[in-house]
Formats: sequence, C-alpha cells, structure tokens
Amino acid sequence: MSTSTIPEILTHVDAGVMTMTLNRLERKNSITSVMYGAMADALESANHDAAVRAVVIQGHETIFSAGNDIGDFLNKPPSTPDSPVFRFLRGISSFPKPIVAAVCGPAVGIGTTMLLHCDLVYAGDNAAFSMPFVNLGLCPEAASSFLVAQLMGYPRAAEALLLGEPFMVETALEMGLINRIVPPAEVNALAQRQALKLAAKPLSALIETKRLMKKGNAGMVAERMAEEGVSFGRMLQEPAAREAFSAFMEKRRPDFSAF
Ligand code: COA
Repeated sequence: MSTSTIPEILTHVDAGVMTMTLNRLERKNSITSVMYGAMADALESANHDAAVRAVVIQGHETIFSAGNDIGDFLNKPPSTPDSPVFRFLRGISSFPKPIVAAVCGPAVGIGTTMLLHCDLVYAGDNAAFSMPFVNLGLCPEAASSFLVAQLMGYPRAAEALLLGEPFMVETALEMGLINRIVPPAEVNALAQRQALKLAAKPLSALIETKRLMKKGNAGMVAERMAEEGVSFGRMLQEPAAREAFSAFMEKRRPDFSAF
C-alpha cells in the first residue's frame, strides 16, 4: 500500500514495513513543524496499524537531515509540550515496534538524536553526525543530554554536546550509535532487508523484547525529554538563539560576546 502524508514526508507500507522518507532535498531535509506533525502522525498510525510490524526511516543518499528548519524555528517556535517536534520525539522514543534507520550524509541535531531511539541504524560511509545545539544557543533534546553520555561516556559526550563537534561513521560505529557502515547506494536496501526480517518475526515477541531492553531507561528518557523541552522552548526565545538563527539566515558568523 502506498500513502503520502505531505510531499516532504513520504510514507508507504509494504510487506509489513512502513517506510518514512524525508524528502526536502532543496533544504537539506531540514524539518519544519508541519513535517514533525506528519512524522508524529505516521508513527501513531504505524503503531495502531496491525499491518505494520517494523518502520524504516530514511533520507537521501547525500543527506539524512540538516535538523530543525532554522527559519521555521524562528517563526513558529515550539511553545507547548503538544508542539509537533515534541509530539514526534515522544512518539519515536516510546514507539513499541522496531525502527530501522538508513543514514547517509550529514545527520545534524535531531537528525542524530532521533537515531538514539531507533533500534537498528545503518549508515553510508559518507554519514557524519553532529549535535550543535550549544552553537545555536540551545540545549539538547530527545533525551540526548542523558543518552549521549550514557552511550559514549561523559568526555566524548562533552565534545559532541558542549563543543558541538561532528563525528564520522567510524566513531559512530565504535561508540555503538550505528550498526554497520556500507556504501551510500546500499544503505536503504540494507535497511529494508533488515526491516523485512523483523517483519517476518512474531510481533508480540519483538514488542516485549524491545520493551524489556528499554525498560531501564524509559522513565529517565521521558522525564529528561520533558525537562529538555521546557528549557529548549525557553532558550529558543532568548537572545543567544535569536542571534544564532539570524546569523544563519544572513550567512554570517554569530556574535555571542554579549550572551
Ligand atoms: N534550516 C533551514 N535551512 C537550511 C538548514 C536548516 N537547518 N540547513 C540547510 N538549509 C538550507 C541552506 O540555508 C541553503 O539554503 P539556500 O540555498 O537558500 O542558501 C540550502 O538549505 C542548502 O544548504 P547548504 O548549507 O548550502 O548545503 P551544504 O551541503 O553546503 O551543507 C549542511 C549541508 C547540512 C552541512 C548545512 O546546510 C548545515 O550545517 N545546515 C545547518 C544545520 C543546523 O545547524 N541545524 C540545526 C540543528 S538544531
């Protein structure tokens, strides 16, 4: 079955697998609030649709996602817990069925942090990961302030989150953020093959196994995500973020000397 929610987020269901494709190449797959809403809706319907047994999230062979659309954040900052970005984050972090991600090219901000909530992540050898929230006057989201340190240890988390330094696929593999590196042209096909394998297994066993594996973190993830959301929403309105966003739009270096 083929469905499409909005042109920037394509979804289709085939052989038990819902594939969700970020499709906004001209803006490097940066994500607007409308796109977050469509992604949250797609996950919600996949959750309730008995025909969906696994989900694949993919971008383009050259870019996974440039993260939040900065102009959209300036104009429509998420202000309540029901804002589409937070709905999406709650949806992906508590999604009960397996999620497989296929990542090529840059994965910036939420492009990286959403992977912390996927079960299997396959990456092209051109993938690069970064979480430059501080560089934008913001704080982490998606419970990444907890999960990144847990995954990489505090020193490397500090480089990734305080300095906002990017890291490449080899590091991501070594740290356990991703499962395997393959040529970019093979990433989506590999993700589909793995998702099809999952879809052929008993769903009840997959759901219970995922729940048990995530149980230790689930409460902390929900709690931290809510706290990050409050800070993130406030910081979006503050001068440092406004300066960072204006600088991005005006293609100049931000001046944080006053903040
Ligand atoms: N929000 C809004 N527009 C974005 C965007 C974003 N997050 N990322 C890229 N774009 C736009 C660019 O402004 C540019 O628009 P233009 O053609 O009108 O100038 C277009 O997409 C192409 O981007 P460009 O930077 O020229 O592509 P690139 O291949 O040289 O670099 C990235 C790709 C992803 C490395 C780079 O675009 C980038 O760093 N983007 C910002 C990422 C970011 O800080 N995200 C927020 C995380 S919280």
